[in-house]
Amino acid sequence: MTNKNLIDVEAMTTEQIEKVVKRAKKIMQSPADYRHACDGKILATLFYEPSTRTQMSFQTAMLKLGGRTIGFDNPMNSSVAKGESLKDTITIISEYADIIAIRHPVEGTAKAASLYSEVPLINCGDGGHLHPTQTLTDIVTLSCEKGRLDNLKVGLCGDLLNGRTVHSLIKALAKYENNSFVLISTPELSVPLYVIDILEKHGCKYEISHSLADSIGDLDVLYMTRIQRERFKDEKDYQAQKNVFVLDKQKLDKARNDMIILHPLPRVNEITVDIDDDPRALYFKQAQYGMYGRMALIMLMLQDEDFTIATRDNQISEHKCKNPKCVIQSEEYLPRLSYEKLGMEMCEFCDKRLDD
Ligand code: NCD
Repeated sequence: MTNKNLIDVEAMTTEQIEKVVKRAKKIMQSPADYRHACDGKILATLFYEPSTRTQMSFQTAMLKLGGRTIGFDNPMNSSVAKGESLKDTITIISEYADIIAIRHPVEGTAKAASLYSEVPLINCGDGGHLHPTQTLTDIVTLSCEKGRLDNLKVGLCGDLLNGRTVHSLIKALAKYENNSFVLISTPELSVPLYVIDILEKHGCKYEISHSLADSIGDLDVLYMTRIQRERFKDEKDYQAQKNVFVLDKQKLDKARNDMIILHPLPRVNEITVDIDDDPRALYFKQAQYGMYGRMALIMLMLQDEDFTIATRDNQISEHKCKNPKCVIQSEEYLPRLSYEKLGMEMCEFCDKRLDD
């Protein structure tokens, strides 16, 4: 089956990813040609969790295409504060809007919302799980700045456990030939198993590292991430992790001249400010690319009949997902959707094993 929702970049084909990149580049070249591309269309941004770039770049993207936007960035100003279910909110909003962009602190919420939406729906981050449009941002940046999406040695550093941008980026880059990964984190914040499974499924080379200084030397791309304070149960654990990996001038001296530094932002202290002027520091430019990537995505989802994204075959499971961070715990009416991977039953919403 296929649909018009973007929940997980893994479901996109490389042709679809490249279609977004190609359209984004065309828009960058002559933005005026797209000023009326979405006249009369409405984008709803439903942000249940803080955001600066993702929400505003989606809104700006729609305004630059001639469309308009509705939505909230504080769910306490919506009927959520009165206890409305996700299902009811989405059922109504999808009558008002032509396309929905949603961010939520709970894993699997975008997938759950898509079950009740009549219009295309985009996952703008679901807890520590996935963030496909940040990945499109990263991919547009790589294509423009490195000129390729394959044969890259990519170091990912910081909170690889809770950093949803990392999970989605690995899923996308694993699709391309000969990309390899250096996963730089503390043992406590290493990538979840389901992400390792993806690397193995695609036969990608990867190494685990605990030292940025030791690993930086032969990277094409360094993707720095913030330690995701809001995802820690215990503040003490966050304090123990927050300063472990800091990219400073001394470490950058060991990097190649053509390595580029990306970061989904916001930055806290993991890149020192004196690096901002280094020509390799591309994180602010990356945010600009993101807006063009989102313009391209909105257009393709609203207008391109062929731009339909594959969905997995689902079963209804006897088991309820035990992941305390999964949407199934809070939206109890949801069907217990599962899919099969390597003989195991996985939760369709959060990708965790159901029989664990
Ligand atoms: C990221 C996110 O929300 O996951 N920010 C973003 O969308 N650019 C990264 C982060 O919050 O650390």
